[in-house]
Amino acid sequence: MAEQLLSINGLCVNVEEKPILHGVNLNIKKGETHVLMGPNGAGKSTLGYALMGNPKYEITSGIIQFNGKDLIEQSADERAKDGIFLSFQNPLEVPGISLSNFIRNALEQRSRKRIRLWDFQKEMKKAMEVLQMDPSYADRELNVGFSGGEKKKSEILQLLMLKPSLAILDETDSGLDVDAVRTVSRGVQEYQKNRKGALLVITHSTGILESLPVDFVHVLVDGTIVASGNRSLIDEINTHGFESFMKS
Ligand SMILES: Nc1ncnc2c1ncn2[C@@H]1O[C@H](COP(=O)(O)OP(=O)(O)O)[C@@H](O)[C@H]1O
Ligand SMILES: [Mg+2]
Repeated sequence: MAEQLLSINGLCVNVEEKPILHGVNLNIKKGETHVLMGPNGAGKSTLGYALMGNPKYEITSGIIQFNGKDLIEQSADERAKDGIFLSFQNPLEVPGISLSNFIRNALEQRSRKRIRLWDFQKEMKKAMEVLQMDPSYADRELNVGFSGGEKKKSEILQLLMLKPSLAILDETDSGLDVDAVRTVSRGVQEYQKNRKGALLVITHSTGILESLPVDFVHVLVDGTIVASGNRSLIDEINTHGFESFMKS
């Protein structure tokens, strides 16, 4: 049996004094793929930010364990070094550092040793090919002037290069055209291929999930998980929407 990676128990989170999550329970084992769905404003992004350690999202009660350690005690920086990755709904533009240097710095900080440029560049080239990104993007300032689709690709490139043990993808597919969804999805499949890293995919649409093996689906409504199941839950949501979950 696979080992437990993330274990969330009774998680309550306030944003600006307002309770948003009311007792979320979620368990993710190594290599598993979980999908989190739910209506707008349910608290899906809040869960992602709370896991990443964004100080705006105040944990008022509950326990989060990651790799057997208390996650709440760790800073956002430590969490990233420990292998949690969050792809933002709106990736930030970071002037002054190139995409390539950003990724290399993150890798070197995590492993605490220098990475051979040749190996790094070879791997970067391969990952960029999967994502159909022009190699010139490696030298451009991180996300600066990137289109919406390019920003999402840059996030998935980071995912492929950093190989986190848990990747949270928050609506990585939103606002993308069908071809871009397919490319991004190919990148996610590549990350998931050897089942080394776990995935928590937050999404509204199912395009990104089409060719992705999914182990569990959860429905978040009003800050609590109201249903969990297998892939068939996605079809149920596609047919009936979230209404039936909201009444119960
Ligand atoms: N930084 C923030 N400042 C104020 N309110 C926030 C912030 N982040 C989230 N919220 C509020 O928390 C609720 C849940 O939001 P969010 O987690 O973004 O939902 P979802 O991602 O499911 O659409 C919403 O009512 C939203 O307005
Ligand atoms: Mg959101």
